[in-house]
Amino acid sequence: MGFKVAVVGATGNVGREMLNILDEREFPADEVVAIASRKSLGTEVSFGDATLKVKALEHYDFSDVDICLMSAGGSVSKEWSPKIAAQGAVVIDNSSAWRMDPDVPLVVPEVNAAALDGFTKKNIIANPNCSTAQLVVALKPLHDKAKIKRVVVSTYQSVSGAGKDAMDELFSQTKAVFTLDEIAPKKFPQRIAFNIIPQVDVFMEDGYTKEEWKMVVETKKILDPKIKLTATCVRVPVFVGHSEAVNIEFEQPLSADEAREILRKAPGCIVIDKHEPGGYVTPYESVGEDATYISRVREDPTIDNGLVLWCVSDNLRKGAALNAVQIAEALIKRKLIQAKKKAA
Ligand SMILES: NC(=O)c1ccc[n+]([C@@H]2O[C@H](COP(=O)([O-])OP(=O)(O)OC[C@H]3O[C@@H](n4cnc5c(N)ncnc54)[C@H](OP(=O)(O)O)[C@@H]3O)[C@@H](O)[C@H]2O)c1
Repeated sequence: MGFKVAVVGATGNVGREMLNILDEREFPADEVVAIASRKSLGTEVSFGDATLKVKALEHYDFSDVDICLMSAGGSVSKEWSPKIAAQGAVVIDNSSAWRMDPDVPLVVPEVNAAALDGFTKKNIIANPNCSTAQLVVALKPLHDKAKIKRVVVSTYQSVSGAGKDAMDELFSQTKAVFTLDEIAPKKFPQRIAFNIIPQVDVFMEDGYTKEEWKMVVETKKILDPKIKLTATCVRVPVFVGHSEAVNIEFEQPLSADEAREILRKAPGCIVIDKHEPGGYVTPYESVGEDATYISRVREDPTIDNGLVLWCVSDNLRKGAALNAVQIAEALIKRKLIQAKKKAA
């Protein structure tokens, strides 16, 4: 007997990608339901060759749902995830609402699948922020080998990380530049077309942004609380694919050649690192792909045991939808869930 899977936020960037990935990976689902807000009731979304009619969250009965993939934002998740979990569906949430709750595992399956064992406390599992997900996939195998002391990361984040309205804003602003129309920022604090913005999410008291704070605390929760990390998160006019320049200080020596060899064998990583024009991966090439791509691995001569690398991934996939589906697959593989008996 297969599972019944609900995708909440099915009309959004992440939700649509979840439906694609469930289909591509032939997830063992007998039924998949698409759910969004009341305004999307009755609209259609694609699921493989089929189309699904969207249902409204507030009227949906989750009592026979086994797995709920949630990507409808933090406030919707805060209100609805506990209600859905109480009806017996395991909620795999993409928002930031539950990530730092001690009773909620924060999981990237290639890194800390064992943390899933504690999920029944709330029946909710959190996905990390998109920038953290690809970063920890790259850091984990290196940490296992040479123990990371400190990470300095700068991100170059695509607009799709801020939702479908943000993609429309980049598109319409870019068009407006050529048609000499007015450019009015709405979703972003500054113009994004032909520009970059050194602010992702809101400012915190210490001058960091919340996105930067998330990278710090989530890396500690997923990988190792002893790792020191500082981040500068920047929005760039790219539709899909987040990039990161990562400087890593280790306790033990690790050469660039050794690091490349380790990363080549690591789950979820693909190394493309030729010292020639184009011998690296750009966000454009990562679109629609599952891997975290690593390029430009080199030794940092300014510190002991330091490496620098470039890391790129499709933020809608490994940064969100793929990771959520991988969590569901890991629950099944580890025999942590079973399909509920459905009424005939
Ligand atoms: N994009 C990324 O790279 C990324 C990565 C990691 C995590 N996330 C997180 O994933 C979540 C979704 O992001 P997104 O990029 O897919 O956003 P999005 O494109 O703006 O889509 C938002 C989705 O949520 C639904 N929704 C909004 N309010 C709702 C309500 N009251 N009840 C039910 N559904 C509601 C929307 O439905 P309607 O169309 O009906 O409004 C839509 O399907 C966010 O929490 C985001 O932080 C995103």
